[in-house]
Amino acid sequence: ARTYPFYGTAEQAGIRTPPQRHIVFMTFDLVSPQRADLQHLLARWSAAAAQMMKGGAIGRIEPARPDAVGLDTGEALGLGPAALTVTFGLGPAVFSDRYGLAAQRPAGLRPLAPLPSDALKPEFSGGDLSVQACADDPQVAYHAVRDLARIARTTGTAATRFAVLGFGRASAGPGQTTPRNLFGYKDGTRNIRGDADFDRFVWIGDGPQGIRGGSYQVVRKIEMHIENWDTDRIGDQNAVFGRFKQSGAPLSGRDEFDTPDFALRDAAGAPVIPPASHVALAAPENNDGVKILRRSYNYTDGINALGQLDAGLLFISYQNDPAHFERIQARLGAADRLSEYVSHIGSAIFFVPPAAPEGSYIGAPLF
Ligand code: HEM
Repeated sequence: ARTYPFYGTAEQAGIRTPPQRHIVFMTFDLVSPQRADLQHLLARWSAAAAQMMKGGAIGRIEPARPDAVGLDTGEALGLGPAALTVTFGLGPAVFSDRYGLAAQRPAGLRPLAPLPSDALKPEFSGGDLSVQACADDPQVAYHAVRDLARIARTTGTAATRFAVLGFGRASAGPGQTTPRNLFGYKDGTRNIRGDADFDRFVWIGDGPQGIRGGSYQVVRKIEMHIENWDTDRIGDQNAVFGRFKQSGAPLSGRDEFDTPDFALRDAAGAPVIPPASHVALAAPENNDGVKILRRSYNYTDGINALGQLDAGLLFISYQNDPAHFERIQARLGAADRLSEYVSHIGSAIFFVPPAAPEGSYIGAPLF
């Protein structure tokens, strides 16, 4: 199993890292107004994440004194690191006078603009801190978030807000075959790859230490109406995405990685890739070259109140300007043929600071 280092890298793991199979994503509300409490929590979280990413426990599971409480909850013992990455994000309210951080606010960090097709529910939205734990073993990812939540609670600094458990990465990373989302389509075919695009579109290139080298994390819980989708005929499904279901090829091509030709017309003069298809609206060719890194996961919440399968996409994107996400989503929400089959029910945004050197903690240069 792979192991990723927590300390000493430029960027936090879990962004450029090839997507693992499982995610547990949780956000927290700060309940302490004390700056020192926030610093202390970030320091404790960093130390714990570093231990867990090595496959270790964060303290004694079975203390010597029988009346003592274990420091680690124990359920990841023996499972190894399982490629665990823990990625921390700071929400807009962290950069306030309350914590003396108003002047440190990263330029792009503000609540997202209201977007067409928003059907946001407060119980799946917002938060002051985010924890993204990804691993190839779901129990390793769950253990990480559980023990971090326990630290937040026992220190009285932060309270849980919302959580999503996801599986079957729905985004391809370098060297991976493209996985599929719950509509059955390959997802991540034209995702960001390569240093040049990471530098241009993902990492914040300027600003003071502690900001530079970070990124913005946009999170959308998107309900997918899979039962309606499953009744739709295949020709229509392909037109919704602008790609073939089985091969993943654009409707203008034959192979998955063929570049979509948005100008190609059929014998009747109609565009072969419909202009209202998902890829036509989202493609950089039609958005002044703008790209975002998608690192999403499928999720299910079981069955809804109507007895229908309740499932969707935990969409997570990383970009060095949240306006890039807003621009694409504004076009998709207004015109995307996919909109008929999805509802955005949750939304949150965080600044993800760069990684910390050993002996320090995430966010330390901001204080
Ligand atoms: C492409 C699915 C939501 C942005 C794709 C592709 C699929 C897909 C199947 C084609 C394969 C690929 O190139 O990755 C979905 C589903 C969604 C969803 C099922 C919701 C449940 C979003 C959202 C955004 C977005 C909210 C951003 C606002 C993109 C972009 C591309 C893409 C930028 C690449 C287009 C290109 O360069 O050709 N998506 N997507 N998607 N999607 Fe989505």
